[in-house]
Amino acid sequence: MLSSGIQALLGRHQCVVLGIDHCYKDWSHLPGEQRNEINFDQPQALDTVSIVSALARLIEGQSIIFPRYDFSQHARSEIGDIIKPAPLILVEGIFALAIPEIQKCFTQSWYVNLDSDTCLERRLKRDVTERGRDAEEVRSRFERDVRPSIRDWVEPQRKFADSIFDGNKPWERLLEEAIAHLRTLLSAQPKNLIIIEDNPPMPTEQNLAIGARMGMKLLDKRLLKETALPKSGSNLCEDGLRLRRKMRRNQCLHNLLRYTGLSAIGRRFSKQIKLEKNSVFVRNLPTELDGFKILHISDLHPDLGCEWLPSLVELISGEAYHLAVITGDFRNNFQPNTRLSIKKISPLFDALKSPVFAVLGNHDLIEMVSELESREIRVLLNEAVVLQHSGARIWLAGVDDPYFFKTDVLNLALPTEADSEYLRILLAHSPGVYRSALKNFDLLLAGHTHGGQVCLPGGIPIIRNGNCPSRMLAGAWQEGNLQGYTSRGVGCSGASIRFFCPPEVTLHTLSK
Ligand SMILES: [Fe+2]
Repeated sequence: MLSSGIQALLGRHQCVVLGIDHCYKDWSHLPGEQRNEINFDQPQALDTVSIVSALARLIEGQSIIFPRYDFSQHARSEIGDIIKPAPLILVEGIFALAIPEIQKCFTQSWYVNLDSDTCLERRLKRDVTERGRDAEEVRSRFERDVRPSIRDWVEPQRKFADSIFDGNKPWERLLEEAIAHLRTLLSAQPKNLIIIEDNPPMPTEQNLAIGARMGMKLLDKRLLKETALPKSGSNLCEDGLRLRRKMRRNQCLHNLLRYTGLSAIGRRFSKQIKLEKNSVFVRNLPTELDGFKILHISDLHPDLGCEWLPSLVELISGEAYHLAVITGDFRNNFQPNTRLSIKKISPLFDALKSPVFAVLGNHDLIEMVSELESREIRVLLNEAVVLQHSGARIWLAGVDDPYFFKTDVLNLALPTEADSEYLRILLAHSPGVYRSALKNFDLLLAGHTHGGQVCLPGGIPIIRNGNCPSRMLAGAWQEGNLQGYTSRGVGCSGASIRFFCPPEVTLHTLSK
């Protein structure tokens, strides 16, 4: 928690956190009952070689792929997080000082002291809520493995620490103390590359996890703009007013259609969802990825109406694909309770095959991330992951909304020339990010435009909704070596009406 707080304040460009608890040995070769018998509360359970090698690469200024551990299966996930190097590397874990090979990599060691009852309380909260374990099993494991481990392994590490913090203090006090201590340490560095702002926006326990991923500065910017979304608040900033003007313009068009008696027809069209099949030709595509299929869904806006839901579920249920992506707008604006908005489309989430990745759109609130992730939909907040497929690797990056919130920061998810062996895919809510994607990605998948939603025959939009060239408003396009696709989306914005612009779900097939 302390490392996440520091990372939230400094941002991922200045601080990386290596959570060594994600680097347990892989036990996937053992049967389930045998895995349950393993004692994970001892340093021997960790994969020391991988930790030291990851640390060495970060110290040398190289990016790493850090494994995610599936704690429910006691096995490593096929998906790894990409961690870019930063001037400050924080290594956290209860055995970080108990393993000499790891300990000797540190220039400073901190120990956070916590009484064992609080440890049990936190472990119960984590294991029962986040990992779906049984409370009684957690308690008995604590008595059997954890309490002896605290005595034999954790507490003896105090003697190796340069500083000891009291973890029983209120969270905000603990973080303030740690930051003050860090300032002192950094001021003694002759060539300090890390800037800690005066009076930075402080993370709370509630927004700590997102703050660490986005950085508090960016999160603060987003939260402030969220109050500017129409229906979310009354203090509209300039962008909020612009958005409201645009929505009023759409409303005028929809009123006109209603008065001319055309809206009933438009409503009918808005439910006629199509499965579009798109072939993506990628130069130098690894043979193993020839035929790789991506299911692409966008702009659901379910709180405006989701009569299309049964057809959508039926359409995708029979399709085979390797990866599913959702490029934002999980709500319109009318549902202040985002939980209800997401609940409405639960049958869709249940029908999707894993893995599913998403980015947020200009209608989405940051509070939706935890709700989506609890349903196994991983949201990429200016982040990248590596997916493995038959020995080939895919660099999948996603940026936060570039249209309204403008909180997209691609540099921390950007592949470099050294990463050209990967197939590189970027998810963004709007195709407007194509310029930043040009040099570094093979494929950009986006939505947001709704293809115009109300169009003239031939799909010519009456109102354009996107900060991109017209040819990128719907369907497949290309810019240099970058292949792109802008989905017309599933739902509607403003009113449930479509003309000459059917709602779509897309199945992309990669080929050489
Ligand atoms: Fe949308």
